[in-house]
Amino acid sequence: MNATALLPDPLPASSAAELAGRHLVLGLSGGAACFKAAEFCRLLVKAGATVQVVMTEAACQFITPVAMQALSGRPVYVSQWDARPGNNMAHINLSREADAVVVAPASADFIAQLAQGRAGELLPLLCLARPADKAPLLLAPAMNREMWAHPATQRNLRQVAQDGAHVLGVAHGAQACGEFGDGRMLEAGELLEEVIAFFTPKPLAGRRVLVTAGPTFEAIDPVRGITNLSSGKMGFAIARAAREAGAGVTLVAGPVGLPTPRGVARVDVVSALDMHAAAMRHAAQADVFIATAAVADWRPAAAAAHKIKKDGSGAVPALAFVENPDILADVARLPRAQSWPQPGALYCVGFAAESQDLLANAQAKRARKGVPLLVGNIGPATFGKDHNALLLVDEAGATELPRASKRQLARQLVAEIARRLPVAQER
Ligand code: CTP
Repeated sequence: MNATALLPDPLPASSAAELAGRHLVLGLSGGAACFKAAEFCRLLVKAGATVQVVMTEAACQFITPVAMQALSGRPVYVSQWDARPGNNMAHINLSREADAVVVAPASADFIAQLAQGRAGELLPLLCLARPADKAPLLLAPAMNREMWAHPATQRNLRQVAQDGAHVLGVAHGAQACGEFGDGRMLEAGELLEEVIAFFTPKPLAGRRVLVTAGPTFEAIDPVRGITNLSSGKMGFAIARAAREAGAGVTLVAGPVGLPTPRGVARVDVVSALDMHAAAMRHAAQADVFIATAAVADWRPAAAAAHKIKKDGSGAVPALAFVENPDILADVARLPRAQSWPQPGALYCVGFAAESQDLLANAQAKRARKGVPLLVGNIGPATFGKDHNALLLVDEAGATELPRASKRQLARQLVAEIARRLPVAQER
């Protein structure tokens, strides 16, 4: 494959319909967070899902069925006595068609009703009547911090989780009531990420994945430094995909402004030395190490303590450089990495940012770094972009992942990595 074949095309950022073919019941119970459900509904539809909204009477106090009908493109159901269905059994019909029932917001009272198996109106009735194996129940709690912390709520949450509901987290922050604490509903985009993750197969369940991402910044003085054009997008997409695939993920990120993928533990670093220390520390607990970071090869030999000033003579500062440690090579030299493919070993994946001769360079780099899998890409064609193409080089040969969004490539790469891991051992 030549470099041109790997040039990303100028497509806009991925708008892939990740929920295409999914039919969801979106339930709203009463709470100020109902306004977020409107945006959430829109995002679900944009992601390709068909959405049937069901609201409680209390939810109708916060947002109208008209708004939710406009956003979902379907008439909203509120009453269990709604005569529209031919058999007058909305609770049966709606739950039989759904791939999942997502209740957002799920109020304290609604969760209490579920915990007791109550069915006083359509939404809890539908949850109770749904075939639990075919239509899983996801709950996005939303309530005041005192209600959230109350032992009764916590007891009810444990009960509904034990009964099979998938309870999403809550956020910490300012609440509609003016108080501050736990209990805010997740934002619409976070809920979408959770729903997509929920539907993703889990080939990395029980594995711990460590990812480095982004550039590093090597200080010259307190206000200047050298860095590179890496955006971190590929590494962040891989961290997200690994988490969706069931892994516990730690992301060691250089200086980038990207949001942390849901459920990923992020460690922010600045320099290559910081990144090296963080990666070595976290590698001890990892099963897979994926080095996507564009680590600066060199750093100024000594960063000046104060800003280097012009002296008016036209003289330029002489900068001396020293080489940074090779993070990937050092992790790959750890005894657990060397023991690959023995059970319990650490599987190391390197990236190669090249400007030409991708296959030859990737093969050479794989041997030099001593890693089982090396992923090649054309650096100038991918830095900062949303699309890329990858070339996977391992002992069996080379596999091309053709041009696609970094999101799609990350999911494919994670599947390729999962396929190469030995069957998980009992810990
Ligand atoms: N890498 C690293 N630490 C470094 C340099 C690179 O962990 N100090 C990792 C990168 O994260 C990537 C792989 O090594 O996974 C290859 O990085 P790349 O920049 O392509 O290659 P280099 O090793 O820097 O070699 P060269 O610049 O000569 O191509």
